[in-house]
Amino acid sequence: MEREKITLTGAQETMLATLYARALDYRAPDPVLADRAAADAVERIDYDFARTRIKPTTAAGVAARGKQLDDWTREFLAEHPTATVLHLACGLDTRAQRMDPPDTVRWIDVDYPGVLDLRRRLLPEPAGDYRMVAASVTDEGWLEEVPADRPTVAVFEGLTMYLTKDEGRRLIQRITGRFEHGRLLFDCYGTVGIRLQKLVPAVRNAGATLHWGIDDPHELEAWHPGLRCLDALRSIEVGRDKMPRAGRIQLRVLGLLPGMRDVGRILRYAY
Ligand SMILES: C[S@@+](CC[C@H](N)C(=O)[O-])C[C@H]1O[C@@H](n2cnc3c(N)ncnc32)[C@H](O)[C@@H]1O
Repeated sequence: MEREKITLTGAQETMLATLYARALDYRAPDPVLADRAAADAVERIDYDFARTRIKPTTAAGVAARGKQLDDWTREFLAEHPTATVLHLACGLDTRAQRMDPPDTVRWIDVDYPGVLDLRRRLLPEPAGDYRMVAASVTDEGWLEEVPADRPTVAVFEGLTMYLTKDEGRRLIQRITGRFEHGRLLFDCYGTVGIRLQKLVPAVRNAGATLHWGIDDPHELEAWHPGLRCLDALRSIEVGRDKMPRAGRIQLRVLGLLPGMRDVGRILRYAY
């Protein structure tokens, strides 16, 4: 089998770390996501995944955060079965495949062109009303191509930290300004996490730079009338109970350190 060589660098390369985490989770005794397509994709990529330094404990954390965003997306689609899903910075995440939404849902995966080329080669395309849009989320044009006729949930995992705060604000304002109502579901780093970015091997080794940290999730509510933060979960608490014991203990200790407990969050907003 010819394996895919990787030429992507920086933020684009970091998607291999989260993919690898889901692949490791698949091989865990009690997987969180059971994402077989992720494990298959890893087998077909010629890359030194050890560079990511992802271990079973970190993998369980990545999978748990992904599951939280899956659950919120699923919940919204149960209430709005004809919604649009904007899955931004999709990387090689098989969220659409995991969710297997009804044909009435319009699903759009967005990432850079080089990422989507790889995605086409490595992952099965979901059935139904599905398409990919090759763009930077900060480009102005692509969103206007998406019909504004339905409730819209935008889910973005592992994106906000690569944007500047101004880019993040502009993105959120463009989405909330275009669609009548929906949800924003995403993860973020706190400013402590941004300061400690050199300690994250997947970021450091890819040569990526993190910019935007969010310490007060309510600050974003001022960016659009009616934007409300429904949930702000600490990343270190999500899925902790399903982790291997060593990981649970590490995270409990982190949780006792006031500066560290808000190193990352998973956020849900209504607009
Ligand atoms: C850590 S990976 C996360 C990928 C995927 N969401 C996951 O969880 O596996 C970061 C992703 O953000 C994408 N990304 C970063 N900045 C972007 C931008 N301005 N526009 C589109 N995608 C972006 C990268 O290409 C990469 O796929």
